[in-house]
Amino acid sequence: MASDLLKGKRGIIFGALNEDSIAWKVAQKAKEQGASFTLTNAPIALRMGAINQLAEECGSEVIPADATSVEDLEALFSKSTEVLGGKLDFVLHSIGMSPNVRKGKDYGDLNYDWMLKTMDISAISFHKVMAVAEKQDAMNEWGSILALTYIAAQRTFPDYSDMAQAKAMLESIARSYGERFARLKNVRVNTISQSPTMTTAGSGVGGFDVFMDYADKMSPLGNASAEACAEYCLTLFSDFTKMVTMQNLMHDGGFSYSGITDRLVEQLKK
Ligand code: NAI
Repeated sequence: MASDLLKGKRGIIFGALNEDSIAWKVAQKAKEQGASFTLTNAPIALRMGAINQLAEECGSEVIPADATSVEDLEALFSKSTEVLGGKLDFVLHSIGMSPNVRKGKDYGDLNYDWMLKTMDISAISFHKVMAVAEKQDAMNEWGSILALTYIAAQRTFPDYSDMAQAKAMLESIARSYGERFARLKNVRVNTISQSPTMTTAGSGVGGFDVFMDYADKMSPLGNASAEACAEYCLTLFSDFTKMVTMQNLMHDGGFSYSGITDRLVEQLKK
């Protein structure tokens, strides 16, 4: 579906780890729609090498940055505006990681140093990204900044553990910085709350298969795929959504507003 939705737009895409990553699909589709962008991930993730394949496909430069390091982010933003030949129109923050989830810590027995890491990687990094963009005056007027989140910010999903707090903070940062960036540069800041999706980050959550099946049956349209999420991201980078800001936008096939569905009832009757 090649077209010109993002023709002439420049951006930075964080978080493409492998072909399953939501950011990977955003990159492919943004390229199809005429955007140019740099790709970035934590140095340790880049060592796996998969991103080079994506970079080649998209004609993008890969710039390593640990999103918790302001110094790395400063280098990333200045290098990106340099190689792309101007200020940025969009930024995708597609980053999440909890050492407590990864190491199977029970919620009543969290390691608090790790919890702080969860917050830094999965939420505070979004503030750092925007603060660096602001200080370098790296965004164009009417640009769009987006992060990916999950409904565990509003409702409890026990296995999501401290990531629930991280997502709540992430969404709050989007609102606070959204107000600021609108005032300063007419830049919009939003979060997309995506259905459970089979990716490296997603499948790290305990009982993910069962959980995906439940969410699918609780969503009148079924779970939203990574591809569909990527397409929604593109609409928010496009000029058709200029007045949407400070929102947490549900992209979940209707899950968030469903009480119960026929498909779930059928399953429970069995
Ligand atoms: P993914 O595992 O492909 O992407 C997560 C990315 O975060 C990876 O590329 C990883 O290298 C990066 N990352 C981790 N620590 C970093 C650091 N210090 N600096 C820079 N990058 C770092 O998984 P996915 O699912 O594509 O995740 C993308 C976003 O979507 C995350 O924010 C996730 O929480 C969110 N999301 C995912 C859902 C799912 O079920 N998979 C559902 C709703 C939201």
